[in-house]
Amino acid sequence: MNSNTKRRPAGSSRAKKPAPAGPKTPHGKKIRTIAILTGGGDCPGLNAVIRAVVRSAWILHGWEVIGVLDGYDGLIDSRTRKLTPRDVRGLQVKGGTILGTSNRGNPLKYPVTRGGKTIHRDVSGKIIENAAKLGIDVLIAVGGDGTMKIAQALYEKGLPVVGVPKTIDNDLGATDVTFGFNSAVSTATDAVDKLHTTAESHHRVLVLEVMGRDSGWIAIEAGIAGGADAILIPEIPFDLGVVCRHITDRKKGGSRFSIVVVAEGAFPAGGGKIYEKEPSETAPGRLGGVGQWVASRIAQCTGIETRTTVLGHLQRGGTPTTFDRLLATRFGVEAVGAIARGEFGRMVCLRGRKIVTDEISDAVKRLNLVDPAGQFVRTAEALGISFGRDQK
Ligand code: F6P
Repeated sequence: MNSNTKRRPAGSSRAKKPAPAGPKTPHGKKIRTIAILTGGGDCPGLNAVIRAVVRSAWILHGWEVIGVLDGYDGLIDSRTRKLTPRDVRGLQVKGGTILGTSNRGNPLKYPVTRGGKTIHRDVSGKIIENAAKLGIDVLIAVGGDGTMKIAQALYEKGLPVVGVPKTIDNDLGATDVTFGFNSAVSTATDAVDKLHTTAESHHRVLVLEVMGRDSGWIAIEAGIAGGADAILIPEIPFDLGVVCRHITDRKKGGSRFSIVVVAEGAFPAGGGKIYEKEPSETAPGRLGGVGQWVASRIAQCTGIETRTTVLGHLQRGGTPTTFDRLLATRFGVEAVGAIARGEFGRMVCLRGRKIVTDEISDAVKRLNLVDPAGQFVRTAEALGISFGRDQK
């Protein structure tokens, strides 16, 4: 052994403590405990991520895992639970999130009451403090763009974070697809299939309103797969006159029924989105009602009985599809891998068939929206589906 590399006896005053092996935080601390939270609206596959994180963290690294309850709220008031492999047994098939979630309390604009008045404060400092008190070395934040923006802010304030993208809306730009989306589209397609029965039997126009916020992915994919006759999406403001002509032409051609799939964020050209609850300074607003709005106008202009179904939270519930279970599981394992490699401030993403990581700050910059001139829209139009615009 080279005398320079010879180890000094332990306890000797000049002996240097050997640096602990294994992954460390950016502050040089050995990772022992990681935490996971789920933020934003629930969706199928969240539990599969939790299971994958807990199991791979224990099996590969022997890390403890803390589950944070109700999204960032649980870090504001220190509500957590320990998660062991036993706690996550069989979770891959279960919808929702065993940790609870919240899409209201933004810690960067947190509502607090002062002298009977509600004001909004940035409480992210408290989160960093509480995370340290709880012994959290790294936080895995599972959520959509809102959750990721908060994760980025916490990262900039010194908390090591890794992001996992989820949302039924599929609107995050950095990943080819988010988990939860495939399950939501399957539910919506099933609804289109079932609506065909009554539409055909009663010679009606049936309008299906689906979720998706500002993106039309659920509407366009379920609409094409289910064989809708018109699909209205936020990316293509629609002209109801065109939709009515399309339905009337179908009737003249012998098809006495029509199915219209409307994304909740769709709106008429020159008009605005329809909200169940208007947006405010601190909350994004709740979309809803465009299905009924469209249906009543179609009934007027075509004279055909037209009814609406609002699919709502059925799209967020139930067992994840095989695709979503696999994607969520892969994301969970790769998030733990990212921590082990010291890739903080990054989010796992699907690119092609591979899981990679990208900076959260980049990931939240670009929304993934349906391209009005893209392949999905062209495929639908080639099948004779109307988007409520004149086809070139
Ligand atoms: O982002 C998922 C989503 O389901 C959107 O499609 C929808 O607009 C929104 O959440 C509804 O949220 P909530 O259940 O809080 O009203």
